[in-house]
Amino acid sequence: MTVQLAPSILTADFARLADEIAAVERGGADLLHLDVMDGHFVPNLTFGPAVVESIARVTRLPLDLHLMISEPDRFIETFAAAGASMISVHVEALRHLHRTLVAIRRAGCRAGVALNPATPVAAIEEVVAELDYVVVLSVNPGFGGQAFIPQSESKIRAIRALLDRAGSRAPVEIDGGIDASNAERVFRAGASILVVGAAIFDGKDPEQAARRMRAAATAGTAA
Ligand code: DX5
Ligand code: ZN
Repeated sequence: MTVQLAPSILTADFARLADEIAAVERGGADLLHLDVMDGHFVPNLTFGPAVVESIARVTRLPLDLHLMISEPDRFIETFAAAGASMISVHVEALRHLHRTLVAIRRAGCRAGVALNPATPVAAIEEVVAELDYVVVLSVNPGFGGQAFIPQSESKIRAIRALLDRAGSRAPVEIDGGIDASNAERVFRAGASILVVGAAIFDGKDPEQAARRMRAAATAGTAA
């Protein structure tokens, strides 16, 4: 399994976004993780489709949209048109998760489901065939720079096992509190997409930090 690094711009300097993105691109980022928050599903606000569209113009990285919003169905086509390659929605926000996943694929994007720390693995059991990836939240969503919740490691294993049993090769993405101290552990547990915010953008050199994160994730493996 190859690791994919997905820097989250949540803690980047928004006034210098194009430079920050170029830096992580040079540092080996595979995807760009964009956190969309509505101040309702989570207690914070970020940005919408106009910003996503501007970002799409300055990078070649596939855009991995993490929708932390109460009514994602209303915005799927808009975000797809804005340049999203991947769109994940929260199982806790949706009454008709299956329909939403079908709509994401129909809009031409890879469909992902995100699970809050308190949400059991079984919540996705019936939609595995509609899933292109699963996002395990290892913090309560809303803010960057929070501490990794340790139980998330066994949750990654449980989800990987569930997907394997169903014959799905969908990757597991881990999101929240990932840094050089836990990257290798979560990768070994089965998370092949690592979202990293503060550990890349809080320092002075995001390019170097991205490079270090990738090395840390695969330390001791051949990947
Ligand atoms: C949390 C977001 C994360 C966040 C990760 O609500 O979903 O993507 O930006 O940032 P760090 O790595 O700082 O926890
Ligand atoms: Zn996120």
